[in-house]
Amino acid sequence: MIRDGRLGKKFDSSVAAFTSSIDFDSALFEYDVLTDMAHMVMLVEQKIVDRGDAGKVFSVLKNLLNTGAGAVDTSSDFEDIHMAIEAYIIREAGDAGGRLHTGRSRNDQVACDLRMKARDDVLLLSKALTGLVSALLEVAEQHSLTLLPAYTHMQRAQPTTVGHHLSAYAESLLRSLDRLEDAYVRVDLCPLGAAAVTTTSYPLNRERTAELLGFTGVLRNSMDAVSSRDYMAEIAAATAIISVDISRICEELIVWSTSEFSFIELDDSHASTSSIMPQKKNPDILEITRARTASAFGGLISVLTMLRSLPQSYNRDLQEVSPVFFNTIDSVSSSLVLLSRVVASMKINSDVMNAACMDDFLTATELADVIVRKKDLPFRTAHQIVGALVSQAISEGVMPSSVTTGFVDRAAESVTGEKLGLSDEVVTAALTPLVAVEARRVLGGPAPEVVEQAVAHCFDRLAQIEQSINLREEGINKSRKTLLAAVESILEA
Ligand code: ARG
Repeated sequence: MIRDGRLGKKFDSSVAAFTSSIDFDSALFEYDVLTDMAHMVMLVEQKIVDRGDAGKVFSVLKNLLNTGAGAVDTSSDFEDIHMAIEAYIIREAGDAGGRLHTGRSRNDQVACDLRMKARDDVLLLSKALTGLVSALLEVAEQHSLTLLPAYTHMQRAQPTTVGHHLSAYAESLLRSLDRLEDAYVRVDLCPLGAAAVTTTSYPLNRERTAELLGFTGVLRNSMDAVSSRDYMAEIAAATAIISVDISRICEELIVWSTSEFSFIELDDSHASTSSIMPQKKNPDILEITRARTASAFGGLISVLTMLRSLPQSYNRDLQEVSPVFFNTIDSVSSSLVLLSRVVASMKINSDVMNAACMDDFLTATELADVIVRKKDLPFRTAHQIVGALVSQAISEGVMPSSVTTGFVDRAAESVTGEKLGLSDEVVTAALTPLVAVEARRVLGGPAPEVVEQAVAHCFDRLAQIEQSINLREEGINKSRKTLLAAVESILEA
């Protein structure tokens, strides 16, 4: 269609297949139809196109909204979805259809479609992420008293609770929700009216098209408008950071579900078995999710690498950024949905976790703290005494629950030459994991009431974020109604 003017030769079919974006930009179909509508409404309002011609175009566009992409020829004979749709409109509406591209280019058109899709994508991703955060918080809330060893260096360190542990991930993921919420502000700007690169001499009203498409503002510089994809890099970066957390959660749950740990059991519906070993229960969803985080990291690097070194303004390289971005969002959103289901349905083996807190002297720090408080010794001295005690206990096979004040005194004498004379109750309490957990009431600590407050705080933040997602979705839906009403009023006039 557009080649007939400038180019003598037909498109070679292998060149067409190589350069066409239609395989992936069909995902822009609906956005493109809405962008067409908004542009045409504005052209009529600005008296650039008359109502009669606009009406013919609107009838075709309205049909397209109902039929979907299936109505147009999306073979790679067309360079992209924009050409396929325009060809269809011209076929159906005749010469009037040829007026649609007045004061517009595919450069600002695709930039606009992509930002509309990115808005929806950020909201989709955010909703998937709120699902995971709320699944983590719900389990955390139920298990604020379920003991679990806290690890550092992957070695048992101190007793904590499942509630404390899982809400750590929730806090981190809430920061990612904040990042997405913030990124949305920079996506939500309209490039339409920039045309190919320097705008146009038609008296376009850019604020009006932005409003009709529900954008909060316009991109002010037309060269920037057609060439900026930094929002994709920003969202891909947020997605990569989310994927770091996804991979950590998957890894941990895989380790927890081994028979060596047995801290959790995955729901049967979320596990697979072996084709040869009938006893196996494999955590395939978690493994696949862990592997797919690679697509988010790869996606971010690909987006950045394609954007680097591009001179102003539109370059066809930009077309290649889109599918990478789409795939990254799809992959991470679906991973989040599945991971939420795994978390919500996993069985917590409280007894095993509790037992894991009973040996290994996880409460050694607490005993040292008690010695400091009761005997006013420097923490370093108390640390040495408890170190000696643990070493003696291990060599003599004494469990923490069997340590008496006499045993503590032996260790104290070996370090300072003096006994401590603590009561047996004090020693036993200091070495009891639940007592140590309940004593950690500092902000951010594992004491059940502290975790319960923290979880409640996270639920509040989640509710605020969910409200902001809903408001944005409502805004988009409302603008769509406004746009369709503007189309109708032109059709009726
Ligand atoms: N398919 C193209 C893309 O995704 C649309 C813009 C084409 N513009 C051009 N001047 N060839 O970027």
